[in-house]
Amino acid sequence: MDYRTLKPFPEGFLWGGSSSAYQCEGAWDEDGRTPAVCDTAEIPEGTTDYKVGIDHYHRFKEDIALMAEMGFKEFRFSISWSRIIPTGDGEVNPIGVQHYHDVIDECHKYGIEPVVTLYHFDLPQCLQDRYGGWADRQCIDAFVNYCRVCFKEYGSKVKYFLTINEQNMMVIYQGYRDYGDEKTIWQANHHMLLAQAKAMALCHEMTDAKIGPAPNITAIYPATSSPADNLAAMDMDQFRNRLFLDPAVFGTYPEALMQWFTDRGVAPEILDGDMEAMKNGHPDFIAFNYYGAGCVRYVSTEEGEKLKAEAVEKKDFMTGLMTYPGLAMNVKNTNAVYTSYGMGIDPIGLRVTLRQLWERYHLPLIITENGCGVPDTLTEDEKVHDDYRIDYLRQHIKACQEAITDGVELFGYSPWSAFDLISTHQGITKRYGFIYVNRDEFDLKDMKRIRKDSFYWFRKVCESNGADLD
Ligand code: BG6
Repeated sequence: MDYRTLKPFPEGFLWGGSSSAYQCEGAWDEDGRTPAVCDTAEIPEGTTDYKVGIDHYHRFKEDIALMAEMGFKEFRFSISWSRIIPTGDGEVNPIGVQHYHDVIDECHKYGIEPVVTLYHFDLPQCLQDRYGGWADRQCIDAFVNYCRVCFKEYGSKVKYFLTINEQNMMVIYQGYRDYGDEKTIWQANHHMLLAQAKAMALCHEMTDAKIGPAPNITAIYPATSSPADNLAAMDMDQFRNRLFLDPAVFGTYPEALMQWFTDRGVAPEILDGDMEAMKNGHPDFIAFNYYGAGCVRYVSTEEGEKLKAEAVEKKDFMTGLMTYPGLAMNVKNTNAVYTSYGMGIDPIGLRVTLRQLWERYHLPLIITENGCGVPDTLTEDEKVHDDYRIDYLRQHIKACQEAITDGVELFGYSPWSAFDLISTHQGITKRYGFIYVNRDEFDLKDMKRIRKDSFYWFRKVCESNGADLD
Protein backbone atom coordinates (compact mmCIF):
# COMPACT_ATOMS: atom_id res chain seq x y z
CA MET A 1 0.00 0.00 0.00
CA ASP A 2 1.29 3.46 -0.88
CA TYR A 3 0.79 6.30 1.59
CA ARG A 4 0.47 10.00 0.90
CA THR A 5 1.91 10.83 4.31
CA LEU A 6 4.33 8.71 6.27
CA LYS A 7 4.43 8.77 10.06
CA PRO A 8 7.70 10.13 11.50
CA PHE A 9 10.05 7.86 13.41
CA PRO A 10 9.04 7.81 17.07
CA GLU A 11 10.84 10.08 19.51
CA GLY A 12 13.84 8.39 21.11
CA PHE A 13 14.21 5.97 18.18
CA LEU A 14 17.49 4.10 18.56
CA TRP A 15 19.71 4.88 15.57
CA GLY A 16 23.07 3.16 15.73
CA GLY A 17 25.20 0.32 14.48
CA SER A 18 26.21 -3.24 15.34
CA SER A 19 29.26 -5.41 15.88
CA SER A 20 30.23 -8.70 17.48
CA ALA A 21 33.17 -9.40 19.79
CA TYR A 22 35.09 -11.99 17.81
CA GLN A 23 34.78 -10.07 14.54
CA CYS A 24 36.31 -6.84 15.82
CA GLU A 25 38.04 -7.14 19.20
CA GLY A 26 41.20 -9.08 18.37
CA ALA A 27 43.28 -9.63 21.55
CA TRP A 28 42.15 -13.20 21.21
CA ASP A 29 44.53 -14.56 23.85
CA GLU A 30 45.08 -11.45 25.96
CA ASP A 31 44.16 -10.72 29.58
CA GLY A 32 42.99 -14.25 30.32
CA ARG A 33 40.71 -14.82 27.32
CA THR A 34 40.68 -18.40 26.05
CA PRO A 35 39.84 -19.49 22.48
CA ALA A 36 36.26 -19.67 21.27
CA VAL A 37 35.00 -21.95 18.52
CA CYS A 38 35.41 -19.17 15.94
CA ASP A 39 39.15 -18.96 16.73
CA THR A 40 39.70 -22.63 16.01
CA ALA A 41 37.35 -23.02 13.02
CA GLU A 42 38.86 -23.51 9.58
CA ILE A 43 39.35 -20.11 7.90
CA PRO A 44 38.54 -19.90 4.16
CA GLU A 45 41.71 -19.67 2.09
CA GLY A 46 42.91 -16.16 1.32
CA THR A 47 41.08 -14.57 4.24
CA THR A 48 42.30 -13.41 7.62
CA ASP A 49 41.62 -15.10 10.94
CA TYR A 50 40.13 -13.26 13.95
CA LYS A 51 43.24 -12.92 16.09
CA VAL A 52 43.70 -9.18 15.59
CA GLY A 53 40.33 -8.17 14.16
CA ILE A 54 40.34 -4.39 13.96
CA ASP A 55 41.95 -4.16 17.39
CA HIS A 56 38.73 -2.80 18.86
CA TYR A 57 39.68 -4.30 22.26
CA HIS A 58 42.42 -1.68 22.55
CA ARG A 59 40.82 1.07 20.45
CA PHE A 60 37.22 0.97 21.67
CA LYS A 61 37.42 4.53 23.04
CA GLU A 62 38.42 5.92 19.66
CA ASP A 63 35.67 3.86 17.97
CA ILE A 64 32.96 4.96 20.42
CA ALA A 65 34.03 8.60 20.03
CA LEU A 66 33.54 8.26 16.27
CA MET A 67 30.12 6.68 16.76
CA ALA A 68 29.21 9.57 19.05
CA GLU A 69 30.33 11.99 16.36
CA MET A 70 27.96 10.20 13.98
CA GLY A 71 25.15 10.81 16.44
CA PHE A 72 24.56 7.18 17.40
CA LYS A 73 21.84 6.69 19.99
CA GLU A 74 22.81 3.05 20.53
CA PHE A 75 25.73 0.70 19.94
CA ARG A 76 25.13 -3.03 19.67
CA PHE A 77 28.12 -5.16 20.66
CA SER A 78 28.58 -8.62 22.12
CA ILE A 79 30.37 -9.88 25.18
CA SER A 80 32.99 -12.54 24.62
CA TRP A 81 31.96 -15.41 26.92
CA SER A 82 35.51 -16.81 27.13
CA ARG A 83 36.85 -13.38 28.15
CA ILE A 84 34.48 -13.32 31.12
CA ILE A 85 34.68 -17.01 32.06
CA PRO A 86 37.81 -18.51 30.46
CA THR A 87 36.90 -22.06 31.50
CA GLY A 88 33.37 -21.73 30.13
CA ASP A 89 31.62 -22.50 33.39
CA GLY A 90 34.21 -21.89 36.12
CA GLU A 91 35.88 -18.86 37.62
CA VAL A 92 35.18 -15.32 36.53
CA ASN A 93 38.01 -13.31 34.96
CA PRO A 94 37.98 -9.84 36.58
CA ILE A 95 39.99 -8.25 33.75
CA GLY A 96 37.45 -9.45 31.20
CA VAL A 97 34.56 -8.23 33.34
CA GLN A 98 36.20 -4.83 33.76
CA HIS A 99 36.70 -4.47 30.02
CA TYR A 100 32.97 -4.49 29.31
CA HIS A 101 32.32 -2.13 32.23
CA ASP A 102 34.70 0.24 30.48
CA VAL A 103 32.96 -0.18 27.12
CA ILE A 104 29.51 0.39 28.65
CA ASP A 105 30.70 3.41 30.64
CA GLU A 106 32.30 4.89 27.54
CA CYS A 107 28.99 4.55 25.66
CA HIS A 108 27.12 6.25 28.49
CA LYS A 109 29.63 9.11 28.51
CA TYR A 110 28.21 10.09 25.10
CA GLY A 111 24.58 9.18 25.81
CA ILE A 112 24.84 6.06 23.63
CA GLU A 113 22.60 3.19 24.77
CA PRO A 114 24.54 -0.11 24.89
CA VAL A 115 22.57 -2.99 23.33
CA VAL A 116 24.41 -6.06 24.55
CA THR A 117 24.40 -9.45 22.82
CA LEU A 118 25.26 -12.19 25.27
CA TYR A 119 26.31 -14.75 22.70
CA HIS A 120 27.33 -14.13 19.10
CA PHE A 121 28.70 -17.35 17.52
CA ASP A 122 31.56 -17.65 20.05
CA LEU A 123 31.00 -20.64 22.31
CA PRO A 124 34.13 -21.14 24.47
CA GLN A 125 36.18 -23.87 22.80
CA CYS A 126 36.62 -25.64 26.14
CA LEU A 127 32.84 -26.23 26.31
CA GLN A 128 32.89 -27.57 22.78
CA ASP A 129 35.70 -29.95 23.80
CA ARG A 130 34.16 -30.94 27.11
CA TYR A 131 30.54 -31.39 26.12
CA GLY A 132 30.56 -31.49 22.33
CA GLY A 133 28.80 -28.12 22.34
CA TRP A 134 25.07 -27.51 22.43
CA ALA A 135 24.16 -31.12 21.67
CA ASP A 136 24.80 -31.69 25.40
CA ARG A 137 22.34 -30.33 27.97
CA GLN A 138 25.20 -29.24 30.22
CA CYS A 139 25.73 -26.25 27.94
CA ILE A 140 22.38 -24.90 29.16
CA ASP A 141 23.62 -24.49 32.73
CA ALA A 142 26.94 -23.12 31.54
CA PHE A 143 25.16 -20.42 29.52
CA VAL A 144 22.77 -19.52 32.32
CA ASN A 145 25.70 -19.29 34.73
CA TYR A 146 27.54 -16.97 32.33
CA CYS A 147 24.40 -14.83 31.92
CA ARG A 148 24.08 -14.59 35.71
CA VAL A 149 27.54 -13.02 35.83
CA CYS A 150 26.61 -10.57 33.05
CA PHE A 151 23.32 -9.59 34.70
CA LYS A 152 25.00 -9.13 38.08
CA GLU A 153 27.79 -7.01 36.62
CA TYR A 154 25.99 -5.01 33.95
CA GLY A 155 22.29 -5.38 34.74
CA SER A 156 22.06 -2.00 36.44
CA LYS A 157 23.59 -0.10 33.51
CA VAL A 158 22.29 -1.95 30.44
CA LYS A 159 18.70 -1.48 29.31
CA TYR A 160 18.70 -3.97 26.44
CA PHE A 161 20.18 -7.46 26.39
CA LEU A 162 20.01 -9.81 23.40
CA THR A 163 20.25 -13.52 24.17
CA ILE A 164 21.65 -15.39 21.17
CA ASN A 165 22.57 -13.94 17.80
CA GLU A 166 21.12 -15.82 14.82
CA GLN A 167 20.42 -19.10 16.54
CA ASN A 168 18.66 -20.17 13.35
CA MET A 169 21.75 -19.62 11.19
CA MET A 170 23.96 -21.33 13.74
CA VAL A 171 21.68 -24.34 13.86
CA ILE A 172 21.11 -24.60 10.12
CA TYR A 173 24.71 -24.05 8.99
CA GLN A 174 27.10 -24.76 11.85
CA GLY A 175 24.83 -27.46 13.27
CA TYR A 176 24.99 -29.33 10.02
CA ARG A 177 28.78 -28.98 9.87
CA ASP A 178 29.33 -29.96 13.50
CA TYR A 179 26.83 -32.76 13.95
CA GLY A 180 25.86 -33.96 10.48
CA ASP A 181 22.76 -35.84 11.61
CA GLU A 182 19.45 -34.05 11.82
CA LYS A 183 18.28 -35.39 15.14
CA THR A 184 21.32 -33.98 16.92
CA ILE A 185 20.86 -30.63 15.19
CA TRP A 186 17.29 -30.27 16.46
CA GLN A 187 18.36 -31.53 19.88
CA ALA A 188 21.07 -28.85 20.07
CA ASN A 189 18.49 -26.31 18.95
CA HIS A 190 16.14 -27.42 21.74
CA HIS A 191 18.91 -26.91 24.30
CA MET A 192 19.64 -23.43 23.00
CA LEU A 193 15.95 -22.52 23.18
CA LEU A 194 15.85 -23.72 26.77
CA ALA A 195 19.03 -21.83 27.64
CA GLN A 196 17.54 -18.70 26.12
CA ALA A 197 14.24 -19.07 28.03
CA LYS A 198 16.10 -19.55 31.31
CA ALA A 199 18.33 -16.55 30.59
CA MET A 200 15.29 -14.36 29.90
CA ALA A 201 13.61 -15.45 33.13
CA LEU A 202 16.82 -14.83 35.07
CA CYS A 203 17.26 -11.39 33.55
CA HIS A 204 13.80 -10.40 34.77
CA GLU A 205 14.51 -11.83 38.20
CA MET A 206 17.84 -10.05 38.64
CA THR A 207 17.48 -6.77 36.72
CA ASP A 208 15.11 -4.14 35.35
CA ALA A 209 16.64 -4.56 31.89
CA LYS A 210 14.70 -5.72 28.86
CA ILE A 211 15.77 -8.82 26.98
CA GLY A 212 14.94 -10.46 23.66
CA PRO A 213 16.18 -12.99 21.08
CA ALA A 214 18.10 -11.90 17.97
CA PRO A 215 17.48 -14.37 15.13
CA ASN A 216 17.89 -13.75 11.41
CA ILE A 217 14.29 -13.42 10.22
CA THR A 218 12.98 -13.00 6.75
CA ALA A 219 9.73 -13.25 4.80
CA ILE A 220 9.46 -16.35 2.61
CA TYR A 221 7.92 -15.92 -0.84
CA PRO A 222 6.32 -18.79 -2.79
CA ALA A 223 8.08 -19.24 -6.16
CA THR A 224 4.72 -19.35 -7.96
CA SER A 225 1.07 -18.81 -7.08
CA SER A 226 0.44 -22.59 -7.06
CA PRO A 227 -1.25 -23.81 -3.87
CA ALA A 228 1.58 -26.31 -3.30
CA ASP A 229 4.20 -23.53 -3.40
CA ASN A 230 2.12 -21.44 -1.03
CA LEU A 231 2.03 -24.30 1.44
CA ALA A 232 5.78 -24.76 0.92
CA ALA A 233 6.32 -21.08 1.83
CA MET A 234 4.32 -21.56 5.04
CA ASP A 235 6.35 -24.65 5.85
CA MET A 236 9.68 -22.94 5.21
CA ASP A 237 8.53 -20.03 7.34
CA GLN A 238 8.16 -22.50 10.21
CA PHE A 239 11.70 -23.79 9.66
CA ARG A 240 13.43 -20.52 9.05
CA ASN A 241 11.53 -18.24 11.44
CA ARG A 242 8.81 -19.68 13.64
CA LEU A 243 10.88 -22.59 14.96
CA PHE A 244 12.95 -19.96 16.76
CA LEU A 245 10.42 -17.31 17.67
CA ASP A 246 7.32 -19.33 18.67
CA PRO A 247 9.21 -21.12 21.48
CA ALA A 248 10.76 -17.80 22.58
CA VAL A 249 7.46 -15.91 22.68
CA PHE A 250 4.78 -18.57 23.30
CA GLY A 251 6.87 -21.40 24.74
CA THR A 252 5.57 -23.78 22.06
CA TYR A 253 6.91 -25.38 18.88
CA PRO A 254 5.01 -24.89 15.59
CA GLU A 255 2.73 -27.96 15.43
CA ALA A 256 3.04 -28.92 11.77
CA LEU A 257 6.82 -28.72 11.97
CA MET A 258 6.93 -30.88 15.09
CA GLN A 259 4.82 -33.44 13.23
CA TRP A 260 7.32 -33.40 10.33
CA PHE A 261 10.19 -33.96 12.79
CA THR A 262 8.31 -36.85 14.41
CA ASP A 263 7.38 -38.36 11.06
CA ARG A 264 11.05 -38.46 10.06
CA GLY A 265 12.24 -39.66 13.48
CA VAL A 266 14.31 -36.54 14.12
CA ALA A 267 12.21 -34.80 16.80
CA PRO A 268 14.24 -33.53 19.77
CA GLU A 269 13.90 -35.35 23.06
CA ILE A 270 11.86 -33.13 25.38
CA LEU A 271 12.26 -33.89 29.08
CA ASP A 272 9.69 -33.28 31.82
CA GLY A 273 9.72 -29.63 32.74
CA ASP A 274 11.32 -28.44 29.49
CA MET A 275 8.19 -26.88 28.02
CA GLU A 276 7.34 -25.24 31.37
CA ALA A 277 10.82 -23.72 31.45
CA MET A 278 10.33 -22.56 27.87
CA LYS A 279 7.03 -20.88 28.78
CA ASN A 280 8.62 -19.28 31.80
CA GLY A 281 10.95 -17.08 29.77
CA HIS A 282 9.39 -14.08 28.09
CA PRO A 283 11.03 -11.66 25.71
CA ASP A 284 10.24 -7.95 26.11
CA PHE A 285 10.96 -7.30 22.44
CA ILE A 286 12.18 -9.08 19.33
CA ALA A 287 15.50 -8.09 17.80
CA PHE A 288 16.14 -9.44 14.33
CA ASN A 289 18.67 -9.30 11.51
CA TYR A 290 17.48 -8.84 7.95
CA TYR A 291 19.48 -9.05 4.72
CA GLY A 292 16.95 -10.27 2.14
CA ALA A 293 13.82 -12.38 1.69
CA GLY A 294 13.70 -16.10 0.85
CA CYS A 295 11.90 -17.85 -1.99
CA VAL A 296 10.83 -21.50 -2.06
CA ARG A 297 8.98 -24.11 -4.06
CA TYR A 298 7.35 -27.35 -3.02
CA VAL A 299 9.53 -30.43 -3.33
CA SER A 300 8.22 -33.99 -2.98
CA THR A 301 9.87 -36.40 -0.57
CA GLU A 302 11.41 -38.45 -3.35
CA GLU A 303 12.69 -35.51 -5.39
CA GLY A 304 13.81 -33.68 -2.25
CA GLU A 305 15.87 -36.63 -0.97
CA LYS A 306 17.53 -36.96 -4.39
CA LEU A 307 18.32 -33.24 -4.74
CA LYS A 308 19.58 -33.01 -1.20
CA ALA A 309 21.93 -35.97 -1.66
CA GLU A 310 23.21 -34.55 -4.96
CA ALA A 311 23.80 -31.12 -3.44
CA VAL A 312 25.71 -32.57 -0.50
CA GLU A 313 27.79 -34.71 -2.89
CA LYS A 314 28.66 -31.57 -4.89
CA LYS A 315 29.42 -29.75 -1.64
CA ASP A 316 26.65 -27.29 -2.50
CA PHE A 317 25.73 -27.01 1.15
CA MET A 318 23.38 -24.06 0.78
CA THR A 319 21.04 -26.05 -1.46
CA GLY A 320 21.60 -29.17 0.60
CA LEU A 321 20.73 -27.45 3.84
CA MET A 322 17.74 -25.55 2.57
CA THR A 323 16.05 -28.56 0.96
CA TYR A 324 13.49 -30.22 3.17
CA PRO A 325 12.10 -33.31 1.38
CA GLY A 326 8.31 -33.46 1.22
CA LEU A 327 8.12 -29.85 2.28
CA ALA A 328 10.06 -27.09 0.51
CA MET A 329 13.35 -26.08 -1.06
CA ASN A 330 15.05 -22.73 -1.60
CA VAL A 331 15.02 -21.41 -5.15
CA LYS A 332 16.19 -18.23 -6.84
CA ASN A 333 13.64 -15.46 -6.71
CA THR A 334 13.04 -14.47 -10.34
CA ASN A 335 11.76 -11.08 -9.16
CA ALA A 336 14.87 -10.37 -7.10
CA VAL A 337 16.60 -7.08 -7.74
CA TYR A 338 20.37 -6.97 -7.73
CA THR A 339 22.28 -3.76 -7.29
CA SER A 340 25.14 -2.70 -9.54
CA TYR A 341 27.54 -3.99 -6.87
CA GLY A 342 26.01 -7.47 -7.17
CA MET A 343 24.09 -7.69 -3.92
CA GLY A 344 20.44 -8.67 -3.67
CA ILE A 345 18.30 -5.85 -2.35
CA ASP A 346 14.75 -6.21 -1.12
CA PRO A 347 13.52 -3.36 1.10
CA ILE A 348 9.87 -4.34 0.54
CA GLY A 349 10.83 -7.73 1.96
CA LEU A 350 11.90 -5.89 5.11
CA ARG A 351 8.49 -4.22 5.34
CA VAL A 352 6.78 -7.61 4.83
CA THR A 353 9.00 -9.15 7.52
CA LEU A 354 8.27 -6.31 9.96
CA ARG A 355 4.55 -6.63 9.34
CA GLN A 356 4.60 -10.42 9.78
CA LEU A 357 6.56 -10.20 13.02
CA TRP A 358 4.39 -7.48 14.48
CA GLU A 359 1.08 -9.04 13.46
CA ARG A 360 2.16 -12.46 14.75
CA TYR A 361 3.83 -11.57 18.05
CA HIS A 362 2.79 -8.02 18.94
CA LEU A 363 6.11 -7.27 20.60
CA PRO A 364 8.22 -4.14 19.99
CA LEU A 365 10.84 -4.74 17.30
CA ILE A 366 14.40 -3.59 16.73
CA ILE A 367 16.48 -4.31 13.62
CA THR A 368 19.90 -5.36 14.86
CA GLU A 369 21.49 -6.06 11.44
CA ASN A 370 20.91 -4.94 7.86
CA GLY A 371 23.62 -3.74 5.56
CA CYS A 372 25.67 -3.77 2.46
CA GLY A 373 28.89 -5.80 2.29
CA VAL A 374 31.16 -4.57 -0.47
CA PRO A 375 34.93 -4.33 -1.06
CA ASP A 376 35.17 -0.53 -0.64
CA THR A 377 37.94 1.44 -2.33
CA LEU A 378 40.07 3.89 -0.39
CA THR A 379 41.10 6.81 -2.60
CA GLU A 380 44.53 8.39 -2.48
CA ASP A 381 43.18 11.32 -0.51
CA GLU A 382 41.72 8.87 2.05
CA LYS A 383 38.06 8.96 1.11
CA VAL A 384 35.56 6.15 0.60
CA HIS A 385 32.77 7.07 -1.79
CA ASP A 386 30.24 4.42 -0.78
CA ASP A 387 27.12 5.85 -2.42
CA TYR A 388 25.92 2.21 -2.95
CA ARG A 389 25.79 1.77 0.83
CA ILE A 390 23.89 5.02 1.29
CA ASP A 391 21.43 3.95 -1.38
CA TYR A 392 20.97 0.51 0.21
CA LEU A 393 20.41 1.88 3.71
CA ARG A 394 18.16 4.69 2.51
CA GLN A 395 15.80 2.22 0.85
CA HIS A 396 15.62 0.03 3.95
CA ILE A 397 15.08 2.97 6.30
CA LYS A 398 12.23 4.11 4.07
CA ALA A 399 10.74 0.60 4.31
CA CYS A 400 10.98 0.89 8.12
CA GLN A 401 9.07 4.16 8.01
CA GLU A 402 6.38 2.59 5.84
CA ALA A 403 6.07 -0.30 8.28
CA ILE A 404 5.78 2.18 11.17
CA THR A 405 3.00 3.88 9.23
CA ASP A 406 1.40 0.42 8.84
CA GLY A 407 1.26 0.29 12.64
CA VAL A 408 4.41 -1.69 13.44
CA GLU A 409 6.11 -0.79 16.73
CA LEU A 410 9.74 -0.45 15.72
CA PHE A 411 12.10 1.19 18.20
CA GLY A 412 15.54 0.96 16.63
CA TYR A 413 17.64 0.45 13.52
CA SER A 414 21.17 -0.82 14.04
CA PRO A 415 22.78 -1.69 10.71
CA TRP A 416 25.66 -4.07 10.22
CA SER A 417 28.16 -2.80 10.90
CA ALA A 418 29.14 0.27 12.88
CA PHE A 419 32.72 0.04 11.57
CA ASP A 420 34.51 -2.37 9.25
CA LEU A 421 35.20 -5.71 10.85
CA ILE A 422 36.00 -9.26 9.79
CA SER A 423 33.20 -11.03 7.90
CA THR A 424 32.08 -14.47 9.06
CA HIS A 425 33.54 -16.09 5.95
CA GLN A 426 34.92 -13.42 3.61
CA GLY A 427 37.64 -11.68 5.59
CA ILE A 428 38.01 -7.90 5.80
CA THR A 429 37.74 -7.38 2.05
CA LYS A 430 33.97 -7.46 2.33
CA ARG A 431 33.22 -4.34 4.33
CA TYR A 432 29.97 -3.15 5.88
CA GLY A 433 30.93 -0.24 8.14
CA PHE A 434 30.41 3.52 8.21
CA ILE A 435 34.01 3.76 9.37
CA TYR A 436 36.76 2.36 7.17
CA VAL A 437 39.56 0.50 8.94
CA ASN A 438 42.85 0.66 7.13
CA ARG A 439 44.02 -2.93 7.07
CA ASP A 440 44.01 -5.70 4.47
CA GLU A 441 43.59 -9.43 4.80
CA PHE A 442 47.17 -10.06 5.91
CA ASP A 443 48.79 -6.62 5.97
CA LEU A 444 47.65 -4.95 9.18
CA LYS A 445 48.90 -1.49 8.03
CA ASP A 446 48.09 1.26 10.56
CA MET A 447 44.41 0.35 11.19
CA LYS A 448 43.59 4.02 10.92
CA ARG A 449 39.88 4.82 11.19
CA ILE A 450 38.57 6.79 8.19
CA ARG A 451 35.09 8.29 7.84
CA LYS A 452 33.32 7.00 4.71
CA ASP A 453 30.77 9.12 2.82
CA SER A 454 28.06 7.04 4.48
CA PHE A 455 29.38 8.26 7.88
CA TYR A 456 28.39 11.84 7.05
CA TRP A 457 25.10 10.76 5.50
CA PHE A 458 24.11 8.62 8.53
CA ARG A 459 25.00 11.51 10.85
CA LYS A 460 22.21 13.52 9.17
CA VAL A 461 19.83 10.57 9.54
CA CYS A 462 20.58 10.32 13.27
CA GLU A 463 20.39 14.09 13.82
CA SER A 464 17.07 14.44 11.99
CA ASN A 465 15.56 11.28 13.54
CA GLY A 466 15.20 9.76 10.09
CA ALA A 467 13.54 12.80 8.50
CA ASP A 468 16.52 13.65 6.28
CA LEU A 469 17.43 10.68 4.08
CA ASP A 470 18.85 12.71 1.15
C1 BG6 B 1 25.07 -12.06 10.23
C2 BG6 B 1 25.94 -12.21 11.44
O1 BG6 B 1 24.71 -13.33 9.81
O2 BG6 B 1 25.60 -11.49 9.08
C3 BG6 B 1 27.19 -11.37 11.43
O3 BG6 B 1 25.22 -12.04 12.63
C4 BG6 B 1 27.78 -11.33 10.03
O4 BG6 B 1 28.07 -11.88 12.40
C5 BG6 B 1 26.75 -10.69 9.11
O5 BG6 B 1 29.01 -10.71 9.94
C6 BG6 B 1 27.23 -10.50 7.69
O6 BG6 B 1 27.62 -11.72 7.13
P1 BG6 B 1 29.06 -11.94 6.54
O7 BG6 B 1 29.14 -13.40 6.31
O8 BG6 B 1 29.12 -11.15 5.29
O9 BG6 B 1 30.04 -11.48 7.55
